[in-house]
Amino acid sequence: MMKEPMELLKELTLEEKASLLSGDDFWHTKAVERLGIPRVMVSDGPHGLRKQDDKADHLGVNDSIKAVCFPAACALAASFDRSLMRKMGEAIGDECQHEQVAVDLGPAINIKRSPLCGRNFEYFSEDPYLAGELSAELVRGIQSRDVGTSVKHFALNSQEHRRMSSDSVADERTLREIYLPAFEMVVKKAAPWTIMCSYNKVNGEFASQNKRLLTDILRDEWGFEGLVMSDWGAVSDRVKGVQAGLDLEMPASGGVNDREIVRAVREGRLDEKDVDRCCLRVLEMVKRFTDNARKETPWDMEAHHALSGSIAEECMVLLKNEDGVLPLKKGEKVALIGEMAEKPRFQGGGSSHINSFRVTSLLDVMGGEENVAYVPGYRGTGEDAGLLKEAAEAAAAADKAVVVAGLPDSFESEGYDRTHLAIPENQVRLIRTVAAANPNTVVLLYNGSPVEMPWLGQVKGVIEGYLGGQDLGEAGKRILYGETNPSGRLPESFPIRLEDTSCYLTYGGEGNRAVYSEGIYVGYRYYNTKKTPLLFPFGYGLSYTSFEVTDPRISADRIRDDETLQVRVDVTNTGSRDGKETVQLYVAPPECGVFRPVRELKGFEKVFLRAGEKKTVEFTLDKRSFARWNEEIGGWYADSGEYRVQICRNAEEVLLEARVAVESTQTVPVAFDEDSIMMDIAACPAAAEVVMASMRKPDWESEEEGSAASEAVTAEMSSAMMRYMPLRGQISFSGGQVTHEDLKKLIEKMNAAAKENRNGK
Ligand code: BGC
Repeated sequence: MMKEPMELLKELTLEEKASLLSGDDFWHTKAVERLGIPRVMVSDGPHGLRKQDDKADHLGVNDSIKAVCFPAACALAASFDRSLMRKMGEAIGDECQHEQVAVDLGPAINIKRSPLCGRNFEYFSEDPYLAGELSAELVRGIQSRDVGTSVKHFALNSQEHRRMSSDSVADERTLREIYLPAFEMVVKKAAPWTIMCSYNKVNGEFASQNKRLLTDILRDEWGFEGLVMSDWGAVSDRVKGVQAGLDLEMPASGGVNDREIVRAVREGRLDEKDVDRCCLRVLEMVKRFTDNARKETPWDMEAHHALSGSIAEECMVLLKNEDGVLPLKKGEKVALIGEMAEKPRFQGGGSSHINSFRVTSLLDVMGGEENVAYVPGYRGTGEDAGLLKEAAEAAAAADKAVVVAGLPDSFESEGYDRTHLAIPENQVRLIRTVAAANPNTVVLLYNGSPVEMPWLGQVKGVIEGYLGGQDLGEAGKRILYGETNPSGRLPESFPIRLEDTSCYLTYGGEGNRAVYSEGIYVGYRYYNTKKTPLLFPFGYGLSYTSFEVTDPRISADRIRDDETLQVRVDVTNTGSRDGKETVQLYVAPPECGVFRPVRELKGFEKVFLRAGEKKTVEFTLDKRSFARWNEEIGGWYADSGEYRVQICRNAEEVLLEARVAVESTQTVPVAFDEDSIMMDIAACPAAAEVVMASMRKPDWESEEEGSAASEAVTAEMSSAMMRYMPLRGQISFSGGQVTHEDLKKLIEKMNAAAKENRNGK
């Protein structure tokens, strides 16, 4: 057992403490042998173990040990299944114990602001609630094995372009409602051992030295008690970082920054207490792992390979199934076409790249079947008329054709962003050629983020397979043949064109400045509100059976914001196959004078139902389900009013709706001045009463009926003029009868009345 961190802190010299605040090498923390402090190892992450023995890098260039590649987060999120995340987490946790890795560097939970982000395949969703709920379970699963996680990249790392220098500029409400909640949820629900800060700046300050993010919000507001480490090479000013709450710099800085820390303390620029605080957190993390290290934990690779496949089949999304072209029937002649059937893209490139011990392709599992004929159709991204002809012939000779297409590695990767949504031109040509040769064509896609589908109208079936991990072939076969009923739902919207995305005009930024000017209108929040047609909306996905959701029940039709609301609905499998439905609950806010999206996801439950079976699904909503970030009070605020609780098939399709009146128990402070306008004063009855008692009628309202002036001023115009009139209008339009002094007194009275009213007097 390692000594207590508080004891160790007393025995360490300043130099030793500073040395513990950066890595020993690429993947280890430092040891202090004289005090029995060992070094521990961290490894990527997130969807498997990328443990590098000797040659180290953070780009996935050099090999790592043979391991199991689970589906990437883009796919995992499509499962909408918390329990699956837990299982996968437990498996990765066991692998880490077996390999003596103290912290798995993941999950990565940045919000998909644009489909162009090169790293979207590693991220969960455009929706913070979905990303937060699923990743919290993953963290719980991994940590249940006494292994830590590093939830990354905190925060606003939604582009790869200029990733180490770009400044993500967003207003407070956008931060709180879109980019921070997933982190907040994981911190509060799953207490991750560590958080990894991002490379970029956030509102002018590098995340690695951003006190507001790393201390004020993360620790003081959310109660995070773990360690914050830097992304690899994200440190700019180490001393500022220590002050801001960046405990551990990774990887090693060769002692340069350690010496800088010591010098800053000696020169009085850095308080040694700040060093102690960071050091204590490093020691706590090291002790937590070391005291619970279990190298003898078995790692059953075969079992994890199978688990990877069984997770993958829960993540595949059936997007189109005209005339019931799927599932394929035994005995049908199938043309399996496309190089990706043979060489699948099952993970993304960069630091998350796993050295899979085995990959099962569709060709591996279908190629041996008597009725299946495989042709590659394309090789790489080059044109090949011969392959195309061969594909057309194979398609024409079969009952059905399955084209396997998607994004090659060079089209999306860590390190740079995409510039368009297209799949390679040779694949588009192949799909069109095959569809022309066989009307029963199905496309199975392997990609980490949305692609455009100009060929959609020509094919009968489409499956979004995402990047399904090393057993994706087996999973794909089971979905194609209906051995598993598809149940994935899109965790992101699929736009028709890149130009339809809300940040199209500004994504990537100008130089180092990336202004998130679309604000809270990210993903479906934008498309729904703007009524933009899509290829497929967020939450979309078909099944080989059908479901009906009925009988919504709410526990009350009126609640205070400090009470909870229970919502129940029945869901029935009305088809003839067993299957899983994801019931999605969204909340639509009342008009409140502040821009809000049409609806937001606040609950989801995935349920398995045998054919004909009916189950009841229950949700609990609380203040956060209704609230928006209110900048006036600097906190969450649920406006009083009538909200609609909507049970939806996806973000666009409302199935059932119930109404609930929510009453706010908070008050927003008001302070009137000479520039306050009548409309805003009217919204505060106590202040309005004071004004009404003293008001003069404006000149244009005193005109005789039938006069020229009264004809020029309609009732609508007159009332608008009044609504938008500031109090100081009393001076301008009273011909000198009202003075600043009069107004001052009036405003004092108004503010006193408003305050008394707020205090309930
Ligand atoms: C990535 C991190 C990763 C780290 C270590 C960085 O380049 O952004 O996600 O954990 O390298 O490989």
